[in-house]
Amino acid sequence: VTGDGGLVALRPREPGDAATLTAWFEDAETMRWWDQVYPPLPVESFAARIAAAGRPSYHLVSFMVLDAATGTPIGWSGLMHASVEHRHAALGILIGDPAYRSRGYGTAATRAVCRFGFAQMNLARITLTVIPENVAARAAYARAGFVEEGVQRQALWKRGAWHELVHMSVFAESLR
Ligand SMILES: CC(C)(COP(=O)(O)OP(=O)(O)OC[C@H]1O[C@@H](n2cnc3c(N)ncnc32)[C@H](O)[C@@H]1OP(=O)(O)O)[C@@H](O)C(=O)NCCC(=O)NCCS
Repeated sequence: VTGDGGLVALRPREPGDAATLTAWFEDAETMRWWDQVYPPLPVESFAARIAAAGRPSYHLVSFMVLDAATGTPIGWSGLMHASVEHRHAALGILIGDPAYRSRGYGTAATRAVCRFGFAQMNLARITLTVIPENVAARAAYARAGFVEEGVQRQALWKRGAWHELVHMSVFAESLR
């Protein structure tokens, strides 16, 4: 899958990506506003899980985000909790390499994964939640066409404090 303006490309995860993914998911700065409480799997177990999962499927859509110019993995993005009945799924994204942040890659990857969800999975709505303090994420989502739906109070306990969670969504026809 090639993304927005040729900036990013997506490919399925491979077992050899486990070490890169683990490093990103263990990085405190990257995970600053991420709803993840538990440490990641050991690299070997993670690689085995990726091998067992195989290609992206309706219920597990998980992509490596590549810099399209070089093919270098720069992040991860996926669609989770897909519902056939309601035709929605939840988006997750990270640009793991800090050198690539705030340069449009996050917005491009968000658009590319949403386009996959709408075109290939026939989704009607893609949702996500974000901590209000995560300014870069909110800016990227808004630019892709996500609209804020509401705020859950005291929704997430992270680093010794409660945080609100902003709910956002985009419809197939309003993706930008
Ligand atoms: C969220 C994330 C995926 C966005 O990717 P990105 O490549 O940085 O996003 P983009 O460059 O496309 O857009 C980010 C926007 O936020 C702006 N921005 C970045 N940091 C900012 C800050 N501290 N304050 C204000 N604006 C900021 C950028 O300038 C840009 O907006 P602009 O192009 O209108 O100027 C990335 O920052 C990331 O991986 N963060 C860590 C993991 C994470 O929090 N994931 C989301 C969990 S909900």
